Amino acid sequence: MSKLLSPVTLKNLKLANRVVMSPMCMYEVKKEDGILTPFHFAHYGARALSKVGLIIIESTGILPDGRISKNDLGLWNEAQQAELTRLVEILHSFGTKVGIQLNHAGRKAEDAIKTVAPSPLRFNQEYPEPAALSHEEIKAIQQAFVAAVKLSVAANLDMIELHGAHGYLISQFLSNLTNQRTDKYGGNLENRYRFLGETVTEIRQFYNGPLWVRLSLSDYDETGVQNSIDEWLQIGQWLEAAGVDCLDISTGGLIDKKPNIPISDGYQVPYTTVMKQNVTIPVTAVGHLDNAGLCEYILQNNQADLVLQGRALIRNVNWLADAAVQLRDTNFQVYNNSYLRGQRKSGN
Ligand SMILES: Cc1cc2nc3c(=O)[nH]c(=O)nc-3n(C[C@H](O)[C@H](O)[C@H](O)COP(=O)(O)O)c2cc1C
Repeated sequence: MSKLLSPVTLKNLKLANRVVMSPMCMYEVKKEDGILTPFHFAHYGARALSKVGLIIIESTGILPDGRISKNDLGLWNEAQQAELTRLVEILHSFGTKVGIQLNHAGRKAEDAIKTVAPSPLRFNQEYPEPAALSHEEIKAIQQAFVAAVKLSVAANLDMIELHGAHGYLISQFLSNLTNQRTDKYGGNLENRYRFLGETVTEIRQFYNGPLWVRLSLSDYDETGVQNSIDEWLQIGQWLEAAGVDCLDISTGGLIDKKPNIPISDGYQVPYTTVMKQNVTIPVTAVGHLDNAGLCEYILQNNQADLVLQGRALIRNVNWLADAAVQLRDTNFQVYNNSYLRGQRKSGN
C-alpha cells in the first residue's frame, strides 16, 4: 500500500489519497460572466472519476477586475455561486473533495478596466501601468476576498486557497520587487505581509474550515531584492499563527523572468521541504512530479504532506490508476468495475 494513494486527514479535511489537482486556469468562460461552463463540469468531473483526492478549482477572480483574464471563473455573485454549488455536489458524489483558489490578479489582470497594484509598476510593456491602491481600495479588495469565501462556504466547498503566489496581488504586496509603498502596507516584511495577514484574519472571523495559502518561494530574481528564504519562512510562520491550515509551495511568476535553474523533476520540492521543517502545519509540493515513484519518495521522507499534479493530470486523466500500477499498489480501486476492465495490470 503506497502513502501516495492512501487516505489522509488534514485537520478536518478527509482525503481518499494524497493526490491533489493543482489549480489551473482554463480560460473557458467565453461569456465573460465568470460562471462555470459545461467544459468545467466535464473537465473536473473526469478528474473526480479518476479518484483525485482533492480538486482545487482554478484561479477564480474575486472581482471582475481581479481576474487574470475576462475568460476566468469569478466568484462575486449568486449566479456564479449557484453553478459552483451544482459542480461541487456532482464532484462530491464521485467521492472527491473540492476546493477553490481565490485570486486577485493585481497588475497581472490582463483585461481590467482599472488595473491596480501596491505600486505603479507594470509587469512588462504589454501590461498597463497599474494604479497604486488607496487604503479604501485595499479594504474593498479584502472585503471582496471575504465575500468570496462566504460564497464558497455557501457552495459547500471543502477548502479555500488564497492565491499568494505567481505574481498576483497578494504576492505583489509581499515583495520589494513590486511593493514600493511607504505606508503601513510597504517597507519592512511585517508591512508587506499586512495585506495578506489582515485578509486571513478577516476570513478567520467567520470561516473555520480548511484555509490554504499558495506562495512562490523564489522569484528567480538575480538583483538581490527578492525575499530571502528566511523571510519566506517568517511569512509561513505568521500564516500558521494566523490559523492557515496548509501552505502550497510554488515558485516564480512575480517578475517577467524565466527560472535560472534547470526545470527538472521535483525542482520546487526543496522549497516545500525547507518550509515543512519550519512550520507544523502541512505543506504541499508541486511541479514536475509526474513520476509516482518520486512522489512516494518525497512523502515517505516527510519532505511534503501532499503532492499536487497539474500538467500530468491534463495529459493523462488516468494518472492515479497508472501511478497505482507503477507503485504496485493493489489497494487502489478505480471508479467502478467497468473502469477496472480497462486498466493496465502491474508488470504488463
Ligand atoms: C494551463 C495551466 C494553468 C495554470 N493556472 C494556474 C492557476 O490558476 N493557479 C495557480 O496557482 N497555478 C496555476 N498553474 C500552475 C500549476 O498549478 C502548477 O503549479 C504548475 O503547472 C506546476 O505543476 P505541474 O508540473 O504538475 O504542472 C497553471 C499551470 C498550467 C499548466
